Amino acid sequence: MKKIAVLTSGGDAPGMNAAIRAVVRKAAFHGIDVVGIKHGYEGLVKGYLEELDLGSVGGIIQRGGTHLNSARCPEFKEDAVQQQGIENLRAAGIEGLVVIGGDGSYRGAMDLVKKGFPVVGVPGTIDNDVPGTEYTIGFDTALNTVVESIDKIRDTATSHENSFIVEVMGRDAGDIALWAGLAAGAETVLIPEEDYDLDDIVARLDRGAARGKKHSIIIVAEGVMSGNELAKLIKEKTGKETRVSVLGHIQRGGSPTARDRVLASQFGAHAVELLMEGKSGRAVGIRNHQVIDYDMPEAFEKNHEADVSLYTLMKELSI
Ligand code: ADP
Ligand code: F6P
Repeated sequence: MKKIAVLTSGGDAPGMNAAIRAVVRKAAFHGIDVVGIKHGYEGLVKGYLEELDLGSVGGIIQRGGTHLNSARCPEFKEDAVQQQGIENLRAAGIEGLVVIGGDGSYRGAMDLVKKGFPVVGVPGTIDNDVPGTEYTIGFDTALNTVVESIDKIRDTATSHENSFIVEVMGRDAGDIALWAGLAAGAETVLIPEEDYDLDDIVARLDRGAARGKKHSIIIVAEGVMSGNELAKLIKEKTGKETRVSVLGHIQRGGSPTARDRVLASQFGAHAVELLMEGKSGRAVGIRNHQVIDYDMPEAFEKNHEADVSLYTLMKELSI
């Protein structure tokens, strides 16, 4: 293998740059050239290719976002569009591709594999929702951003004796909400993986108030409902006002944590090793602290599962 390519796709995630850097540097270590594809699958189809050398990935390990840009490209589901992508890769002498993204990006990657082009996947999304790996690049940074924000909200909630609803991202997954709930000591967390009971939420608020608690933090994952919808339901049920904070895209930005940088470096390097070994259609992941790889379709054919033990613990500790 003499030349490979790398692209980032779907929602960007802090640590994607560290993964790109790892791909380029690991490949260079083995004498392989790397081409960066700008703007995800859209750039692949339009031929937005640029040579990446050791210097071009210098000074990016600490940066959020993605140096290669990302995009959502709905047309990439079409056969002819995918075929065009493969033609562009072959015309540039590229023999293998590393796709950094979430399960949607993996679907596109697998279509390329089925059409005969070698691809390996690296999980990059703040949602931590890629089946087969315990962690995805960006989750730890997003989680820390959310916890820091909730700590700040708690300061004002305490001062003014308010109840706050904090809406967090995660698409259909509750990992950000759940982990942030535990880490920030939230009173209630709503995640898509577990049914919620409005009476229980209200009972928790009342229990807290009865023992002198003047404020409370409720975290709602966007996959359950919006913060404003929840505030309306609580108002209808109790007549009480809650303040709503929607954290939004700040969760996707910022300098990656050390944890995300290390994970991204391990993942990017392992992806290059897989291509060098002639492997394709594999996804990189981490399980029990070990970097592993597995068949990429497992990542989109299986459903993501939240850690139920964490949910139980969160409920016990926020009694
Ligand atoms: P993520 O990779 O973070 O899950 P998306 O679901 O938005 O993000 O997917 C990213 C991109 O992957 C899409 O914009 C599209 O180009 C491609 N993609 C998603 N689903 C498919 C699919 N079923 N077939 C081919 N390509 C897909
Ligand atoms: O997948 C990452 C993510 O930030 C999700 O948490 C969220 O649902 C979605 O992307 C938002 O996407 P957009 O930036 O296109 O609104």
